[in-house]
Amino acid sequence: MFGVNENYQKLPGSYLFSRIAGKVNAFLQANPDQKVIRLGIGDVTQPLAPAIIDALHRAVDEMARAETFRGYAPDLGYEFLRSAIVENDYRARGCDISVDEIFISDGAKSDSANIQELFADCSRIAVCDPVYPVYVDSNVMAGRTGTYDAASEVWSDVIYMPCTMENGFVPEFPRETPDIIYLCLPNNPTGTTITKEQLQGWVDYAIKSGAVIIYDAAYEAYISEENVAHSIYECEGAKTCAIELRSFSKNAGFTGVRLGCTVVPKELRCGDVSLNAMWARRHGTKFNGAPYIVQRAGEAVYSEEGKAQLKEQVAYYMRNAAVIRDGLKEAGYTVFGGVNAPYIWMKTPEKMSSWDFFDYLLEKANVVGTPGSGFGPCGEGYFRLTAFGSYENTQEALERIRKSGC
Ligand code: MLT
Repeated sequence: MFGVNENYQKLPGSYLFSRIAGKVNAFLQANPDQKVIRLGIGDVTQPLAPAIIDALHRAVDEMARAETFRGYAPDLGYEFLRSAIVENDYRARGCDISVDEIFISDGAKSDSANIQELFADCSRIAVCDPVYPVYVDSNVMAGRTGTYDAASEVWSDVIYMPCTMENGFVPEFPRETPDIIYLCLPNNPTGTTITKEQLQGWVDYAIKSGAVIIYDAAYEAYISEENVAHSIYECEGAKTCAIELRSFSKNAGFTGVRLGCTVVPKELRCGDVSLNAMWARRHGTKFNGAPYIVQRAGEAVYSEEGKAQLKEQVAYYMRNAAVIRDGLKEAGYTVFGGVNAPYIWMKTPEKMSSWDFFDYLLEKANVVGTPGSGFGPCGEGYFRLTAFGSYENTQEALERIRKSGC
């Protein structure tokens, strides 16, 4: 009789966004006439930029002709895309990253879940609390997190770094020494971030403690303030201690197209072992490359027209962020984020629990958000709204929240 990976049995409940989708579907079944506005999952709503659509069309046409048809993509990614990333995301910011340190993938979600495979089973992970659930869940599946305490909602072997109103959502160095530190900056879910000096502090800490940082930069396009790093490699020494995950989902609307990349510097080593070589080996074995047409679309993100169009798209979403942030503040709520990130993190009113506020807003305002406690125990009493809706729906949602009487 076969056995199963027992670690899966330890996972509590279902994936956060699946649970939310289930609740919304049940509500709609019971109330088919209600117009629900979804500001829950961070999924984009604006169409792909014209420069990207043109690139997709051209690539599709190439696939229709024998002379230009492409089969398997190179497993680490096409040179044209890897070079565009190096030039625009790194060299333009003074970061010395080379093409063979870039690994093209189908998105940052899968990379953020898969990257833990490179590390020893006994590695201790440190995560911010609240945190994007994929980092913890993927380590649960790998058997690295110990036992789960349902009452406190914490794993015995995970090091939690609370990020709350009291510490300005800035994680503090943990008392126990971690092996792997997950940082997502600008942050999902709190929408807040830290300064470049503070990030340098984390790099110094990781080097001193022999830890690796998994740095999720999925939201860097939304940074509006000076002195916030767009890449961890802007910090000195980061190439010896950090892996960076990047996504095309949020900066270019690729949530349904799927494209991302991971940077594993050659200087990142564990003794004699190169993590860059390990990730290349892993990619070669387990991944067959992102589609050619999608990689051409990714290349268009870095064209002059692409850059200009995407700047407008980011500004569109950030206008929504301002509508939510200012509207909630005016209505008397305590609100964070939304300045360097497309997420607004609010305190729930009247000490309501995160899930109670979710139900309340769904029923009274027909607005969907994400309960903060779904991201970890320190998220309890908070609620996340995304700026990725349409402008009209965002305005309408704010109006409804204001009228909901809470
Ligand atoms: C979120 O809502 O937290 C994100 O959209 C999830 C993701 O990017 O996978």
